[in-house]
Amino acid sequence: MCGIFGCILKKGLVAPQILDGLKRLEYRGYDSIGVATLHSGIIEIRKDKGTIQEVTEKLKINEMKGTIGIGHTRWATHGAPNMINAHPHTDTHGKIAVIHNGVIENFLELKQELIEKGHIFLSKTDTEIIPHLIEEELKQNKILKLAILNALKRLIGSYALAVISSLEPDKIICARYESPLVLGISNDGLYCASDVPAIRPYTNKVIYLRNGELATLKVDGYEIIKISDSTVIHRDFEEIEWTLQESEKQDYDHYMLKEIFEQPISLKNGLWLQEQYVDLLTQFLDRGKEVLLLGAGTSNHACIAGSYIFSKLARLTAYPVISSEFIECYGSSIGIDSVILAVSQSGETYDTLKAVDHARMRAATVLGLTNTVGSTLTRVSRAYLIQQSGPEIGVAATKTFTSQVIVLTQIALKLAKLRGKLSQDELDEYEKNLYNIPYWVETVLNRTYLNIKSIAKKYKNSKLFLFLGRGISSATAMEGRLKLLEITYIPCLAYPAGESKHGPISVVEEKVPCVFICPKGSTRSEIIGSIMEIKARGARIISICEEGDSEIIQLSDDVVEMPKGIPDLLSPIPYIVPLQLLSYELALIKKLDPDKPRNLAKSVTVP
Ligand code: G6P
Repeated sequence: MCGIFGCILKKGLVAPQILDGLKRLEYRGYDSIGVATLHSGIIEIRKDKGTIQEVTEKLKINEMKGTIGIGHTRWATHGAPNMINAHPHTDTHGKIAVIHNGVIENFLELKQELIEKGHIFLSKTDTEIIPHLIEEELKQNKILKLAILNALKRLIGSYALAVISSLEPDKIICARYESPLVLGISNDGLYCASDVPAIRPYTNKVIYLRNGELATLKVDGYEIIKISDSTVIHRDFEEIEWTLQESEKQDYDHYMLKEIFEQPISLKNGLWLQEQYVDLLTQFLDRGKEVLLLGAGTSNHACIAGSYIFSKLARLTAYPVISSEFIECYGSSIGIDSVILAVSQSGETYDTLKAVDHARMRAATVLGLTNTVGSTLTRVSRAYLIQQSGPEIGVAATKTFTSQVIVLTQIALKLAKLRGKLSQDELDEYEKNLYNIPYWVETVLNRTYLNIKSIAKKYKNSKLFLFLGRGISSATAMEGRLKLLEITYIPCLAYPAGESKHGPISVVEEKVPCVFICPKGSTRSEIIGSIMEIKARGARIISICEEGDSEIIQLSDDVVEMPKGIPDLLSPIPYIVPLQLLSYELALIKKLDPDKPRNLAKSVTVP
C-alpha cells in the first residue's frame, strides 16, 4: 500500500532516479504520484492524480532540479485520489515535506489539536498532520531529527515515512513502524524505499530498517537510531542475491505473464530449501497440539491446499485460517501448545502480522513462510523458511502461490517421515513426483497456452464464472477464481463442488461458464456427478483434466488437457497454471492492465 522512495546523490539530478524507483513500486499503489526535491535551499513539489507516465509528462518531473528528493506512489486510504491528497505533504510554510505509507489512527485528534494552534490543512489525508506536527515540534526544538522523533512518538498507527526539509537541506530522515522500509547503500548515494526492487538498479547493498527505527541519510553516510530512546544501532548492509534482470519485465508484455512463465524455475528453486530449517519447522509443527495455517488472499489459498497436504501426508490436522479472521475466531482458544504457520509472500501483510502478534502474546509458537528476506514476518517468527520465488511484481500472485504449495509439501513430507506416517516407498514416490513438478509446469506452459487463448476469446462476454473442484482442487478453484476476479473484475464464484448443490447451483443458467478442476484422484466419481448436475442446467463446462480422460472430455464443452501422472495431492501447482493464463488472456481482451488491477495493491500494510 503506497510506495515510498528517497534518494540522496553525490552528483546528478535525483528526479529521474526517484521516478525509476516509483515505477518499480507501482505495484503498491497507483492512484497518484508526487516528488519533492531540494535545490537552492527550497523544496519544490510536483504531484498529481494519474499514472507515473501521465504525471511525469504533464509536470515534467524528470527535469526537477536537486540531488536530494523523495517520491510517493499512492494507494488511497484517507481522502480521494486527487492532486491535493497526493503526497508529498508539507507544513504551513513548505519547509518540511513528508511521504508516508501506512495509516495514522489518531490523526483526527492530532489534526484538531493542530488546527487549534492555527495550522491550516489542505488535504483529507492522515499524512498531512505529520509535517505540521514536526513544524510544531521545531518551535521547541531546532534540530530536525529531534523534532521528528518527538512527532513520531505522538503517532498511533503504522508508518514508513521519509522527510526532507529546507531547514537542514543535506539529509533525508526516514523511519518505520509496522510498514516496511529498506535502505540502499551505493558509491553514488544513499536510498530508502518501501521494497528492494526499487533500489536494486543502483545497489545490491541493503539494510532492512526494523520497527521503531529512524535513519538519517547524508551523502557521506547514515545513522540508525531507536525512536524510543535514541540508542544508536550498528547494523551493516546485507547483499541481495537476485539480479536486476529478475525484477525486470524483459521481453514480456507484463510482469504477470513473465512470472507465470518463470514458474518452472521458481519451483526448482523452491526445491532447494535448507534442510536444517525445514527440520526445525517440522519439529515445531510436530510438537503442536493444534496447528493453524495463517494467510491472506492467495497465501490463504496456499494454506487451504496445505491443510489437505498436511492431513494426507503427515496425518496432521492443520486448519487454514484467513488472517483477518484469526483473532476473532481463534484468538481466545490458542495458547502455549498452538503452532501458527504464517504464510505471506511479502511478510508484511497487516492482517497476518496482527494475527501473529496476537498469537505471540498468547505464547503460541509462530513459524513463517515468506518470499521476503528481512521482512517483518522473518523477525517475529520462531523459525522461518524463504520460498525462493524471486521478486514478484505483478499484483496478482502467480509464481509465489505455486512456490508456497511446493514448500508446504516438502514440510509435510518431512513431518510424515518424522512421524513414521508414510512408508519409505511412498516417501520416495512423492519425492520423485515433487521433482517432476517443474517439468510438468513447463509442459503445461508449452502445450496449453494457445488453447487457453481461444477459450478466453470464446467466453470473453461472460458475465459470471463458476470454479468448482473437489478435495484439494477446491483450493485450486478458489485461487483460479481470485485470479480472474482481481484482474478482469468479472464476478466469480468458487466452491468445493460438493457444496454447489447447497446454493451456487441457483445461479447456473444457460451458457454460464463453469470451470471444473478435475485431476485424477479419489474424488473422481463425485466430480463427474457434479459436472452432470451443472451441465443439466445449461452451463458451459470448461474442464482442466488429465490428458485423454475421455469421460470428462465427453462431458465438457472445452478442455485443457494436463500431463498424465500428476498425483491429486500435488495437482494445485500445475493445475493452477491454465487458470492463471486464462485470467491473463481475459484481462488483455478486456483491455485491462493485468499488472495493475483497480483498487488493489500487492502488499496490504494497512488494516
Ligand atoms: C494482497 C495481494 C494478494 C496477496 C495478499 C496477501 O491482497 O493483492 O496478491 O495474496 O495481499 O499477501 P501476502 O504478501 O501476505 O502473501
